Amino acid sequence: MKTRRDFLSLIGKASIGSFIVPPFLINIGNANNTVSLADFTDADKAKLRKIMLKGMAPTDADDLVLADGMKYDVLIRWNTPINNDDCFGFNNDFTCYIPLSKSDPDEGLLWVNHEYTSPMWVSGYNRRKPDAKRNKAQVTKEMKSVGGSIIHIKKEGEKWSFVAGSKYNRRLDGHTPIPFNWDHKIEGKDQAIGTLANCSGGITPWGTILTCEENYDVCFGECEYTPAGARSVKNSILGWEKYYDYPPEHYGWVVEVDPRTGKAQKHIALGRCAHECCTLVELPDGRIVAYTGDDANDEFIYKFISSKPGSLKEGTLYVADTKNGKWLPLVYDKNEKFKRVFKNQTDLLVQVRKAARMIGGTPQNRPEDIEIDPLNGNIIVSLTNNKPKGDFHGSLLKIVEKDGKHDALTFEAESMLVGGEENGFSCPDNLAFDLAGNLWFTSDISGSSMNNPKKPYMAFKNNGLFVMIRHGEEAGQVIQVASAPTDAELTGPWFSPDYKTLFLSVQHPGERTKTTRKPTSTWPHDGDNKPKPSVVTVQGPLLDKLNNLHRL
Ligand code: FEO
Ligand code: CA
Ligand code: CA
Ligand code: CA
Repeated sequence: MKTRRDFLSLIGKASIGSFIVPPFLINIGNANNTVSLADFTDADKAKLRKIMLKGMAPTDADDLVLADGMKYDVLIRWNTPINNDDCFGFNNDFTCYIPLSKSDPDEGLLWVNHEYTSPMWVSGYNRRKPDAKRNKAQVTKEMKSVGGSIIHIKKEGEKWSFVAGSKYNRRLDGHTPIPFNWDHKIEGKDQAIGTLANCSGGITPWGTILTCEENYDVCFGECEYTPAGARSVKNSILGWEKYYDYPPEHYGWVVEVDPRTGKAQKHIALGRCAHECCTLVELPDGRIVAYTGDDANDEFIYKFISSKPGSLKEGTLYVADTKNGKWLPLVYDKNEKFKRVFKNQTDLLVQVRKAARMIGGTPQNRPEDIEIDPLNGNIIVSLTNNKPKGDFHGSLLKIVEKDGKHDALTFEAESMLVGGEENGFSCPDNLAFDLAGNLWFTSDISGSSMNNPKKPYMAFKNNGLFVMIRHGEEAGQVIQVASAPTDAELTGPWFSPDYKTLFLSVQHPGERTKTTRKPTSTWPHDGDNKPKPSVVTVQGPLLDKLNNLHRL
């Protein structure tokens, strides 16, 4: 268990003015940010100094409960029509706000991932009913509820609203054709149909977003190989492959989307796995480093270093050996072992897990989100848990690249903070740094474990949102600032350009519902007794105080 002192030495106590990563990484909004430090007056300071820096106790209430000094509004909820053909999808996750113009940070496009579907709510198919039948129309509908939404939003006064009728409002879903950014076909095709299992993501220096396909096997299954290399497909949980003959190889990629046009591409060079996220750094010469993790027990952390400026195609993919502090190249041509197992580099990338294991990548405890610490450039990885290995509460891993260079091939890694009752959280998932460099993170205790007296999670009650403080007397403390509704998980934290608003997804409220007549949650409590995954905006003096902690 790390003590507070250990934590302070590990994460580093922050000082003002020490941001070293490019502004786009801190928050794309900042690249276009018109709000400067000079706008922060003595009166603002005096006001914020009076706000108590205090978290909340865990709760099992069926509500989005926030710490004193923060409030929320629902911005958009599942099934809200966003244009003539499409509705806002199910189970929203990663959010990313991109202002439409440099001059006005209060109007822009919000990308929202829709990670997975619930047939019971979305298509009316309930596998628990003995007479449950399913047809293609239902599967078609389920496929329309995943992927991502682009919504036009703006702030008037303090309140954000969705701009209905905007030409920008669109969906990418399980039916959208998306080309592969690769010179060779993937399972015989130049493009996939659909994106799905979109969990977390990232942003590029050129203002597009990255959405990561995580548990794709739930939708179209997974391919398996005999020792001789013969391929077969293991069926999925949802059984979409019975109605749509799409190969598993077309999913499990990092997908780039231009939110202004909806144009998308799948980046093969980053490998195929249960990508949780993808976090980019632009090197001084314009080349790109992309960090990504594979969220499954004993899978790996990867990094791609491009050989050309701005490319997510030309370059080398590496897997992390965190025991020896080495990035190991996943290059077919340079490794005789690979030549014995894979047909070519494309085949290696499609089966990148196998390649990573073959050369000694270090199995991790389910890598979830990755963020770059804006105060020192370290790479922070949330390792959510690994129950078969006895890691029930997860941890945060810190990777320090050699000489602070993101294209280095050696690094040091150490555990930075562990989950558990002593630190007040369990199963860390999404990460976001605020303007002061405090680290905000969500928790993802699974539905079957949460509030279950037979499991080691009772003390934490519902999933929540936490902040690790970096400044002042409280530096090193973790406080809880939000608690999710019943069965839900808070996901996709993303700050607005002025850091006055936190966009936040409330995913899978009422997930353990067995019949729609008796939902386990009715959040957002809008009158029809149905739980609805929604995106909320969080604001208030506590959020302001945390964001300005470095200058109080
Ligand atoms: Fe979709 Fe790894 O959480
Ligand atoms: Ca996640
Ligand atoms: Ca994040
Ligand atoms: Ca998770």
